[in-house]
Amino acid sequence: MDSRTGLPVVGMVGAGQLARMTHQAAIALGQSLRVLAADPDDGAALVAADVHLGHHTDLAALRSFAAGCEVVTFDHEHVPTEHLRALAAEGVNVLPGPDALLHAQDKQVMRTRLTALGVPSPRWAPVSTVEDIGAFAGGEWPVVLKATRGGYDGRGVWVVGSMAEAAAVVDSGVPLIVEERVRLVRELSAVVARSPYGQVAAWPVVETVQEDGICVEVLAPAPDLGEELAVAAQELAIRIATALDVVGVLAVELFETSAGLVVNELAMRPHNSGHWTIEGAVTSQFEQHLRAVLDYPLGATTAVAPAVCMVNVLGGEPGGMSFDERLHHLLAAEPRAKVHLYGKAVRPGRKIGHVTVVGDDMADVRRRARNAARWLVDGTGEMEESA
Ligand SMILES: Nc1ncnc2c1ncn2[C@@H]1O[C@H](COP(=O)(O)OP(=O)(O)O)[C@@H](O)[C@H]1O
Ligand SMILES: [Mg+2]
Repeated sequence: MDSRTGLPVVGMVGAGQLARMTHQAAIALGQSLRVLAADPDDGAALVAADVHLGHHTDLAALRSFAAGCEVVTFDHEHVPTEHLRALAAEGVNVLPGPDALLHAQDKQVMRTRLTALGVPSPRWAPVSTVEDIGAFAGGEWPVVLKATRGGYDGRGVWVVGSMAEAAAVVDSGVPLIVEERVRLVRELSAVVARSPYGQVAAWPVVETVQEDGICVEVLAPAPDLGEELAVAAQELAIRIATALDVVGVLAVELFETSAGLVVNELAMRPHNSGHWTIEGAVTSQFEQHLRAVLDYPLGATTAVAPAVCMVNVLGGEPGGMSFDERLHHLLAAEPRAKVHLYGKAVRPGRKIGHVTVVGDDMADVRRRARNAARWLVDGTGEMEESA
């Protein structure tokens, strides 16, 4: 508890863009997010006042970080489970708790549990040898190999078309699971929040568009998603949040197939598929995550407009117009674009920000948001005035 304000101190392990945007929400609630930053240049470390420098794999650093925090939560899932258990045993309020978080840390644990819960999942198996993969494929290539831990943005996911390709991944030595390659119609995300009290709240289900395993675009609500499927996705996410005792935001990444919904993976923190909620919903996922981990009542999740599109800004090739100049042009040409920059150095392919446009027509907001993001990435394309 902050002695001046009497308001709680929330500690977030990790100081990337999610922590940066959570800090932004914390300010409005009278708080100042404490962050554990591995690097003083991390996005949230640049803007928060209460920065502890230290690594998330260092138990001593985690301990001193947690001292004085009402609750410790996460910007990523890379804290070793044994450290989380140690902190919880010492009385630190770790949320989501270690036993819940494990399902977002380890894809094998997640698949095992969801299968046991009867949640629709791709056909999958744990594998340790290339023969296991061959037996799983049964001649039906390609299959999808996934590192059980540590992957993000498609790093740690390999679509392999043969025994030889599978062998190359196995030889790298990372623990793997194998999945059928799902013939998906599109990808959806159901984001919900749950508090210790047990209150749950679900945002409208969104469509996510990925390129090379990276989410590039989010459409809210998912266009032409039938009411029945939308409600089924929300109910599924709430069921998972409750069964796994998740506290905070839970994002359930889904595949829509001709036979219905299939769960891809889980994230227990604010998620890229929820960035649209900053301008597009009554309560943003960042505010909601704070409310949930503090066991405050949750906020309304209703969308504020019929159509919202969020497009990620990935770092482009160096050269050309300066970033500042691109931003200047963009703000002039598209006054409706809401730009979020994460304070990161530009590297090709790295998520450095996002743009959201809110409006009445999905095709229109999508065109505006895409143009704006592309312009920031490479300074080319159409950035004509669109009043
Ligand atoms: N079994 C699968 N079948 C088809 N596509 C898949 C499958 N698993 C993953 N993908 C594709 O790869 C992307 C990244 O996989 P995911 O498991 O979500 O990894 P990450 O942890 O990197 O986000 C997914 O969003 C999807 O586009
Ligand atoms: Mg994913």
